Amino acid sequence: MLKAILIYGSTTGNTEDLAQSVASGLEEGGVEVAVKNVTAADVGELADYEVVVLGASTWGDGELQDDFVPFYDRMDNLSLAGKKAAAFGPGDKESFPDTFCAAVDMLEEKLEQCGAEISIGPLKIHTETGDEVDDAIRVEARKWALGMARSL
Ligand SMILES: Cc1cc2nc3c(=O)[nH]c(=O)nc-3n(C[C@H](O)[C@H](O)[C@H](O)COP(=O)(O)O)c2cc1C
Repeated sequence: MLKAILIYGSTTGNTEDLAQSVASGLEEGGVEVAVKNVTAADVGELADYEVVVLGASTWGDGELQDDFVPFYDRMDNLSLAGKKAAAFGPGDKESFPDTFCAAVDMLEEKLEQCGAEISIGPLKIHTETGDEVDDAIRVEARKWALGMARSL
């Protein structure tokens, strides 16, 4: 069974909520998943997994979620060659049209720089600022992850 690690950074809980659905979809596709808040994760752990999934929300104006910044910086010079990867996260398309889910693009680019193979395009979820993730979004996230699992 393929082993995946899913690491997320979340300020108000939306990315954390999405992470659970993404994990369910991967599991449904036969992938074993370890889910970790980035505050409890270390870059060294990534070596133990064949699949790396990173999730973060976007804050400020196009900035990576705060908790994720040190981990992101520690990924410099990390090799993820031979691993499959993908990125996801929520953002607010209406309030921040120019920087919608910029953090997701940052994560995907970092994974590519580390030599990982992106197995599916990023999942960018629109959430109105202050709103929580709903069931329709959870289903979308789960389907995206199942699609990823099937592409591995
Ligand atoms: C002060 C502030 C700044 C934000 N900046 C952006 C942004 O630049 N781009 C974007 O897509 N979403 C932005 N958002 C929306 C959040 O990313 C969105 O609410 C997200 O669901 C929060 O996820 P989290 O609970 O996992 O942190 C911003 C929200 C706030 C309150």
